[in-house]
Amino acid sequence: MRTEEEMVAYALEAEPELLPYLPELLADLEELGSDAELITETIGKLGLPADAKVIDLGCGKGAVAVEIATELGLNVLGIDLFEPFVTHGQNLATEEGVADRCQFLQGDIAKLAGTLDPVDLVVFAALGDVIGRLDETVAIIRRYVKPGGYLVISDAFVQDDGSADFPGFEQYAKHKETLARLTSQGDKLVSEVLPELDEEQEDDEGAMIAGRATMLALKHPDMGDAFMEFAAMQSSENHFIEDNLVDAIWVLQRG
Ligand SMILES: C[S@@+](CC[C@H](N)C(=O)[O-])C[C@H]1O[C@@H](n2cnc3c(N)ncnc32)[C@H](O)[C@@H]1O
Repeated sequence: MRTEEEMVAYALEAEPELLPYLPELLADLEELGSDAELITETIGKLGLPADAKVIDLGCGKGAVAVEIATELGLNVLGIDLFEPFVTHGQNLATEEGVADRCQFLQGDIAKLAGTLDPVDLVVFAALGDVIGRLDETVAIIRRYVKPGGYLVISDAFVQDDGSADFPGFEQYAKHKETLARLTSQGDKLVSEVLPELDEEQEDDEGAMIAGRATMLALKHPDMGDAFMEFAAMQSSENHFIEDNLVDAIWVLQRG
């Protein structure tokens, strides 16, 4: 059994000794791999009632949850394993003036499934296979949603001439198989949004993490190699994604 610290480290793709430094390494990024604006726009098209409730699973620093609360006025609960991100989300909601309709909770989304009142919509953005393969993930996250409610999943599939041969991405599949996994629990695919690739943004993200790693290495020379390795790993992962995967946002309606 993994300790809580090991679980958080695995979830964040970092060595446990890096955890205290992660907030600083990722300080320049609000969205951690997703597009909060596009996710919110996609949800907006569903025409949910004003009192609809949303849960953002693995909400990271709260960018998506706060955007939904701000732009759509909906009530959002963000859940994340990593306590510093939960605090960051709370502060962000206060800064943006939506603290009254945006709450955050520290916890494991796999363990909490089925324990909270079911809501109208869940978001699952940029978590990959941390709680299982896509079909297993859908089986878990649909437990947060009322029948007829929605699951909004932001992830990726392997492009036709691409490969999933990269550490941590082995379970990714081509488009047809990905859609089969998404709908394997009997939910209906309502829409698929394929965002335009923003290569510049991905390059910037890599450079921002590398910049923070360099600054941190000056302050903590004994950890220097670990910081630089983290930055290099993030950068090579971004390049792998760019060359092999197609990002997508899928909306499923729970059967
Ligand atoms: C790449 S970030 C994405 C964050 C956010 N959804 C976004 O798009 O900005 C993945 C997040 O999932 C969280 N996470 C991973 N596994 C989790 C779990 N089992 N329970 C709760 N949070 C989890 C991590 O702590 C991390 O903040």
